[in-house]
Amino acid sequence: MKKQPGWALPNLREAQKRTKKEAIIERSLFQIPVEVRDLGLGKKYYLRTYGCQANERDSETLAGILEELKFEAVETPEEADLILLNTCAIRKNAEDKVLGEIGHLKHLKDKNPDLVFGLCGCMAQEEEIVQIIVEKYRHVNLVFGTHNIHRLPELLYEVMSCHKRSIEVLSKEGDVIENLPVRRFGKNKAWVNIIYGCDKFCTYCIVPYTRGKERSRYMEDILDEVRQLKAEGYKEITLLGQNVNAYGKDLKIEGGFARLLEEVAKIGIDRIRFTTSHPWDFSDEMIDIIAKYDNIMPFIHLPVQSGDNQILKIMGRRYTREQYLTLFHKIKDRMPNCAISTDIIVGFPNETEEQFQHTIELVKECQFDNAFTFIYSPREGTPAAAMEDNVSLEVKQRRLQELNDCWNEYAHEKNNAYLGQTVKVLVDGISKKNESILSGYTETNKLVNFKAKDAKPGDIINVKITECRTFSLNGEQV
Ligand code: SAH
Ligand code: SF4
Ligand code: F3S
Repeated sequence: MKKQPGWALPNLREAQKRTKKEAIIERSLFQIPVEVRDLGLGKKYYLRTYGCQANERDSETLAGILEELKFEAVETPEEADLILLNTCAIRKNAEDKVLGEIGHLKHLKDKNPDLVFGLCGCMAQEEEIVQIIVEKYRHVNLVFGTHNIHRLPELLYEVMSCHKRSIEVLSKEGDVIENLPVRRFGKNKAWVNIIYGCDKFCTYCIVPYTRGKERSRYMEDILDEVRQLKAEGYKEITLLGQNVNAYGKDLKIEGGFARLLEEVAKIGIDRIRFTTSHPWDFSDEMIDIIAKYDNIMPFIHLPVQSGDNQILKIMGRRYTREQYLTLFHKIKDRMPNCAISTDIIVGFPNETEEQFQHTIELVKECQFDNAFTFIYSPREGTPAAAMEDNVSLEVKQRRLQELNDCWNEYAHEKNNAYLGQTVKVLVDGISKKNESILSGYTETNKLVNFKAKDAKPGDIINVKITECRTFSLNGEQV
């Protein structure tokens, strides 16, 4: 690939490096230079987000920056002067979807040579992907990564005013940038970052490479953000991190995540959620705090990945099946009504039928409320990608089906227990399928579609459950 002067390309080896240095907290790094202040005047942007909540939250920052530059949001790429795809690299099918979309939208660039076509997010942090983009998708003229979102004004200026193809991806540990603008997409529910990056290096996972090292925000910065959200009328916040339990370790914050959770609860916002908590450092103090405060929702996403000790070990998950089950039951004993969901990977390299059955047995024991199940996808640069794999795709697909049938049955049973109960629902909006029906979520994160009497988005109301399905509940406002 011919590298142009001024380009910075991703480097997975660099991205893997970790030092003991504390991350820099930047309070004034984001600046809009005078010459770009009106860059977006009269221009429209289309932003599409793939991937996890971290990306959703990043998109809110991207939208915030673009709107400070006076760009206006539009709903379809056809109307846009700037198309920006904020991407996910977690599995190959996530990437294929994006590459397909880039190809599919190429005709827009042919029609409008001034179109800015941008790719950012986790895929931009991957060497292989950026190489493909540079060589084969020449209509993409802006690429930047997860570490330099704050550079968007300057990078856009290069493309729009200097007519350069601009590629800037930094493969560094990462800083914490506190002065970025934000345009929240929700009016009642908000995401709040508490810790960036990941140091766990599970052997199958690309995230530690695309997102840099674990770095916490200061507690006061987080609490200020939550106070402000409450003042603005938000009803629910979700504290975000690849592993929220690691919160504060890098800054040596006493009490870590449990203390942060308690301080957030005391602010008195109606609903607090958090994701994701890794089973490895889920402390007893956390369970105490979740049980103590009514506004911390009784719902925990606790990814197990596999029910087999040997596979867990090769995955680098740092816990055994027994330790996971002990934690699971400790949570359930303390909070019997707490819903627990999980993530599971099938077909990890050389997974035997017996090892897979250990996962099925664990699912039967835990009877999860919800599960996100995936076929293992090799990620270039990760240790697992270099492992030989003797499991065929056919076998992996069969296992995925068996696993899904298994957890679906329990999820349906769990939902059946809601029949006739009255539950609190935070109203989201009108159901996509039927306009006379509203929808929202219970405290335990169950989707409820219900007939409303007088409810509007943002209300927390009582709903009586009249019908239970595998993935949702139906009911009537009481
Ligand atoms: N930080 C979270 C997970 C974030 S990624 C945690 O550790 O729990 C979300 C999920 O994607 C993971 O839990 C895992 O189940 C899945 N996943 C990650 N890498 C994958 C890969 N290479 N192939 C298939 N699934 C993967
Ligand atoms: Fe990936 Fe593991 Fe980090 Fe989760 S904890 S983001 S699965 S490396
Ligand atoms: Fe995907 Fe990056 Fe999130 S790889 S899951 S968008 S951290």
